[in-house]
Amino acid sequence: PRSIFFSRHGESQYNVEGKIGGDSLLSPRGMEYAKALPALITDNIGDQPLTVWSSTLRRTIQTAEDLKYTKLTWKSLDELDAGVCDGMTYEEIEQAYPDDFANRDEDKFNYRYRGGESYRDVVVRLEPIIMELERQENILIIGHQSNHLMSRTAYILSRYAYFHHLPQDDLPYIKIPLHTVIKLTPKAYGCDEERYALPI
Ligand code: F6P
Repeated sequence: PRSIFFSRHGESQYNVEGKIGGDSLLSPRGMEYAKALPALITDNIGDQPLTVWSSTLRRTIQTAEDLKYTKLTWKSLDELDAGVCDGMTYEEIEQAYPDDFANRDEDKFNYRYRGGESYRDVVVRLEPIIMELERQENILIIGHQSNHLMSRTAYILSRYAYFHHLPQDDLPYIKIPLHTVIKLTPKAYGCDEERYALPI
């Protein structure tokens, strides 16, 4: 690929309410980001071709809405499935499932939500995406915090042939900011990384 751009979806209604998971739409601030995104991308790549990949969730599709490029949705880019905790705040989870809450803190990478997924599960389901990325030209991925951090790291590491040695324990604690585009440009060994934050 030439470049891979990553962005989380714009701020969602659930982000505002502090709820995890779900399939909410964008907040007014998130919609502003979706409106500003096309100019940021074209300023960056000019008239080079680009394909936009999003998840199947409404907040990523809405974020991609004004981008005039070929678009594809991937189920494997969906947010980590929080199972029975989907739609709850962290306070509510701690109240309802105190043991689970503690276990997650103990081993966040391997903790699997009841009826849902772990970060390890997310890494496994992202593997085909990483493979496909290698065969593509410019790609913009509009996804979620969990899959960005996993796919970005996996991608960078795959270029060093360390794909199977992810620094797993630390990964789930990295925060990816909202309203920021991260651009990776592959180099002979590794990648250059640039970030563009929109003041929204
Ligand atoms: O709050 C946004 C969000 O992407 C949730 O949908 C998701 O479950 C959560 O962040 C993941 O964060 P953590 O794994 O740190 O709890």
